[in-house]
Amino acid sequence: MTYDIVAQGVKYIGVDDLDIDLFEGQYDVPLGISYNSYLIEDEKIAIMDTVDLRKVDEWMSNLDKALAGRTPDYLIVQHLEPDHAGSIMTAMEKYPSMVAICSQRAEPMFKRFFDVELGDRLKTAKEGETLSLGEHQLQFFMAPMVHWPEVMVTYEHLTKTLFAADGFGKFGALSKEEEDDEGWACEARRYYFNIVGKYGAMVQQLLKKAATLDIQTICPLHGPILTEDLGYYIGLYDTWSKYEPENEGIFIAYCSMHGNTAQAALKLADIIREKSDVKVSTSDIARDDLHEAVEDAFRYDRMVLCAPTYDGDVMPIMEDFINHLRIKTYRNRKVAIVENGTWAPVAGKKMRQAMEAMENITIIEPIVTVESVVKTKTIEELTVLADALIK
Ligand code: FEO
Repeated sequence: MTYDIVAQGVKYIGVDDLDIDLFEGQYDVPLGISYNSYLIEDEKIAIMDTVDLRKVDEWMSNLDKALAGRTPDYLIVQHLEPDHAGSIMTAMEKYPSMVAICSQRAEPMFKRFFDVELGDRLKTAKEGETLSLGEHQLQFFMAPMVHWPEVMVTYEHLTKTLFAADGFGKFGALSKEEEDDEGWACEARRYYFNIVGKYGAMVQQLLKKAATLDIQTICPLHGPILTEDLGYYIGLYDTWSKYEPENEGIFIAYCSMHGNTAQAALKLADIIREKSDVKVSTSDIARDDLHEAVEDAFRYDRMVLCAPTYDGDVMPIMEDFINHLRIKTYRNRKVAIVENGTWAPVAGKKMRQAMEAMENITIIEPIVTVESVVKTKTIEELTVLADALIK
């Protein structure tokens, strides 16, 4: 998927990053990531965000080509995180008459990142303030914590385009979009819960502002531009940011030292499948993508945690996974627990304590203890748990 003209007078000038190993130093991006940037041409010209410094040369080349000899008047900085702001100073130095416009909360962050005084070349926008480019009219709306405090989004009235900053972003380079056969929601959901997930209340505030606008196109800073069936995407963001389950189903997250806890977890999945048509998803959190496990934990209404006891505690990778859920304010779900232990099983107690500290978590009884290996008694107990999960 490639873009040239996004809307009347709006050109795509972003770049794909297929070389990056981990986005934000932690997220696996097998299909890369795009850093989207746009140029709005009118009597005045505005650049909508820059790109990661890793791709500054390619972006400057795209910008140069799109400008075709003209000089940009404004650089709209919606988000100062380096994946979008990394090339700001390169552009500001090349175009000394260009003025950067950011939110009031972004202004002190400029100095921290770039260690320069921009003086009159840095202006701030207030909530609802407009900027006329000619026919195109920009209007700025603050979107704090979606995903940093300084974020703002921009609505362009002529083309009815919402420049949504990280909102509606998705992992995956645009040139690899055809290879992503799971549809928009899969990688957009993994992106949302791991990156913006903690800030559901702020996303709700932004959705309320967006509901007052007539939006025909959404231009995010990552992933495809959205032009059709916008209610689908906005509806998913509404569900996700309310911490409501998107689907009925059971997500089983397990880790295992010698295969026995894994055997119990997969046996539980088999029993549920034999007894019902409830959707079951499983993840070996030590081997599969942990951030996809976070995504699935939020996606479904029920979750099972299966882990062995380790050093008088729970196996560390499970503790790490639960900590990811805590940070992202996991809530409003039913959770079952399967532990394993040979001489002093405590994993179940530890997992229960950690989950009960979260908001509106219901523990599904019974907690199943695998005594070292799966045996007839274990299967009987897993069957009881499966019945409780299916109910
Ligand atoms: Fe894509 Fe929060 O930066």
